[in-house]
Amino acid sequence: MAKISIIGAGMTGSTTAHWLAEREIADIVLVDIIEGMPQGKALDLTEAMPIVGKDVSIVGSNDYEATKDSDVVIITAGSPRKPGMSRDDLLTTNAKIVAKVARETIERSPDAIFIVLTNPLDVMTYLTWKVTGLPTYRVVGQAGILDSARMRAFVAMETGVSVENIHCYVLGGHGDDMVPLTSHSNIAGVPLNKYLPKDKLDAIVERTRKGGGEIVGLLKKGSAFYAPSAALAQMAEAIIKDKHLIVPATSYLDGEYGLHDIFIGVPTMLGRKGVEKVIEYELTDEEMEAFHKSAAHVKSNVAKLTEFGLI
Ligand code: NAI
Ligand code: 2OP
Repeated sequence: MAKISIIGAGMTGSTTAHWLAEREIADIVLVDIIEGMPQGKALDLTEAMPIVGKDVSIVGSNDYEATKDSDVVIITAGSPRKPGMSRDDLLTTNAKIVAKVARETIERSPDAIFIVLTNPLDVMTYLTWKVTGLPTYRVVGQAGILDSARMRAFVAMETGVSVENIHCYVLGGHGDDMVPLTSHSNIAGVPLNKYLPKDKLDAIVERTRKGGGEIVGLLKKGSAFYAPSAALAQMAEAIIKDKHLIVPATSYLDGEYGLHDIFIGVPTMLGRKGVEKVIEYELTDEEMEAFHKSAAHVKSNVAKLTEFGLI
């Protein structure tokens, strides 16, 4: 059985363990700094396995030794935002946490593929790549599946069509300037702008961009976890099963979309080696401009890592 370690056993980490255990594709290790918490969650989940009929080992620990020889390492450690905070406000606090997590895990699992969730996502993915010293294709961030799923859910609510027929693609950085691509999004092959009037489509794009904040505003404490963790499970499964699955994900660009030395959301093929390919969509001028604006924002945050001596 493959082995997946999830560092950070909070809301997203433990829910990822839950989705993954139900898939029965890997043994799971949950690590957190809070004593007893990952152990308690892992035991509770283990006790659910006879009910759902899955033979999976789920171990909780405060010790990184438990992560040894993982095939996939998922980083969800760090603080979520509170109402009124942007994802960027988490940068320095979470950078210190993610750098430590990356160092501890790469030492014990030198062959792992790393999937990052911690915010600000694009910057934390870059940091993980720098700290682990891995080739770029072995590090990827989760944001695009979530943002695209939010858009798909909103289109389904508006049209009443099955979510399975709704295909949406959100690229760019995981911030309010993300780029929902209405030109490539469609309902069973029919372009979204043929299906929905402009005002409705504009409202869906705006709600998608603010989707994370909408949940924070409702929950008051913490941020979204069901959809983000479902997205992490889909990525881990694509890697473990070598599916060559194309999803929007935060990958390294070396010239694609006219950008260099940046991790940002792009259509990405995932398989056993990690990021197998970055797919270059033909974007409209307006979309390309929005994508580059989002990239500039990510780059300015990455520069803060150097400025604050974090890389
Ligand atoms: P949470 O607060 O429920 O869990 C985070 C966990 O990390 C806590 O249990 C905490 O004890 C642990 N932790 C802190 N420092 C640690 C360390 N040094 N080593 C190991 N564990 C440590 O937060 P939640 O909701 O799970 O979110 C986690 C992160 O993911 C946040 O930064 C959040 O903003 C981000 N996020 C990103 C999304 C995305 O799409 N990229 C979506 C949802 C959340
Ligand atoms: C979200 O979009 C908090 O980034 C997280 O829900």
